[in-house]
Amino acid sequence: MAFPYQRKRINRASHATRELMAENHLTVNDFIVPLFIMPGENKKEEIHAMPDYYRFSLDLVLEEIQELWNLGLKAVLLFVMVEEHEKDNTGVSAANPNGLMQKSIKAIKSRFPDLLVMTDVALDPYSSFGHDGIVEEGKIVNDKTSKALVNMAISHIKAGADWVAPSDMMDGRIAAIRQAFNEKGWEDKGILAYTAKYASNLYGPFRIALDSAPGFGDKKSYQMDFRNSKEALHEAELDIVEGADMIMVKPGSWYLDVVKDLSNHSNIPVSAYQVSGEYAMIKTAANAGFLNYRESMLESLYAFKRAGAQVILSYFAKEVAELIQQGEHV
Ligand code: PBG
Repeated sequence: MAFPYQRKRINRASHATRELMAENHLTVNDFIVPLFIMPGENKKEEIHAMPDYYRFSLDLVLEEIQELWNLGLKAVLLFVMVEEHEKDNTGVSAANPNGLMQKSIKAIKSRFPDLLVMTDVALDPYSSFGHDGIVEEGKIVNDKTSKALVNMAISHIKAGADWVAPSDMMDGRIAAIRQAFNEKGWEDKGILAYTAKYASNLYGPFRIALDSAPGFGDKKSYQMDFRNSKEALHEAELDIVEGADMIMVKPGSWYLDVVKDLSNHSNIPVSAYQVSGEYAMIKTAANAGFLNYRESMLESLYAFKRAGAQVILSYFAKEVAELIQQGEHV
């Protein structure tokens, strides 16, 4: 018999009360910005599957980062587009000290020493098979891949990266990378573990962006089965004992139950990756006039905050930061 003693609408009655009652807020400190770097100079290409999102050559990505930095964004996650002749089945070019990733890290850190630079660690852009690991007899082999990932991670840190983000889902790779960092005496380098990375259809636009679609089969023997959630808790336990500094759930919106579970069960920060397919769905529906763009974007991001994400990786980060800078109410 609550009504009329409890009138829920009182707390929603005006802008002022709604602001007072709001449980979550978005700020520029919530975001890591994914960036795609391509070979060449003076290049800025729109990714057709991700309208309004671009691949930049290194010279222009520096300009883009300046804009992000001016908006107050403080962390980026780098991906590179790899040329066909650098792709093989060993991932050797992934650790090339003169590779595009390593050159980019150097250039970015020398111009923006205080920016938190994170790098994607996985073989798929470098793999002639388009897989996140070394392929033998049609299988993605775990431990050899893990070694290649360690070399890749070391080369990123040597180039100046602050954190590495292994996105491959091989077993034991967090421990292997942490051990290598310890051996090198790198006490302050972070690992963002892609902990619960699902074999998702929502990576489609990203694979178009980097030309990294699997050449055969799918990624279901290493990425998680989307029917499962308990398994994510076990993955988290492992990544934490192996030495991860932050864990991640990916994709985001269709996996908010997992974000919530991990944030309830773990004592280290949990991030969520709002992936390319999520971005593309909102963007294209809004461009067609079916959704209110600004509001849908913000609603999608607040869902992550509600679920307990400490950090959000999102292609919307810059647009949200622009709204915040313009003093718009987000
Ligand atoms: C590669 C990687 C992928 C994404 C991030 N790192 C694709 C994949 O696993 O096939 C997806 C990001 C996105 O869709 O936005 N290891």
